[in-house]
Amino acid sequence: MKPEERIKEIERTRSGIKRACARSAGFSDAVPVFGHGPVPCGVMVVGEAPGRDETRLGIHFVGKAGQFLISVLRDVFGREREGYYITNVVKVWPVVRTKRGRTRKPTPEEEDFFAPFLEREIKAVDPAVIIAVGKTAFSALVPDAEFAPGRWAKHNGRPVMPVYHPSYLLRRQKSLDESVAAMKAALAEAKKRLA
Ligand code: URA
Repeated sequence: MKPEERIKEIERTRSGIKRACARSAGFSDAVPVFGHGPVPCGVMVVGEAPGRDETRLGIHFVGKAGQFLISVLRDVFGREREGYYITNVVKVWPVVRTKRGRTRKPTPEEEDFFAPFLEREIKAVDPAVIIAVGKTAFSALVPDAEFAPGRWAKHNGRPVMPVYHPSYLLRRQKSLDESVAAMKAALAEAKKRLA
């Protein structure tokens, strides 16, 4: 695929997500947050789902945990957020409808609903490495493997590097320094795969 065709395919995928949400029973009033970044791109970052902040701004990983992840990525890859193609398995905020809205885990049905769109993004972006952020992202990409941060896996022949989700790490402040060092080591391995 030529670069222009890849960009077109990402645009078509966005329209597909909008249409699928509008027609669905569950997401017709949801605001999808699309993947963003250069196309093609050597590094694709896949998270779980957007939260409140991401939905408000239409950009992935902008909340507290997201900013932390971006800073760790920057330390290793030396790139700002614009240097990666960043997306999520689920494209809408999985929310419990309380007054303010409370984030919940996406359901397997929600993951399945968006899976074809993630696949299209991967093909169009054609990354040399995929960083799977957290267990949900990893399991969506490599369903039969155990989630082992730092250990290479494959999705349709493409290298996948799993790392812990930043919100999980931030909840474990005591071991944060150690976890960040391990995450940086895993990301440094991923960086080696770039041409
Ligand atoms: N957590 C994710 O997995 N993705 C985001 O975009 C934000 C938080």
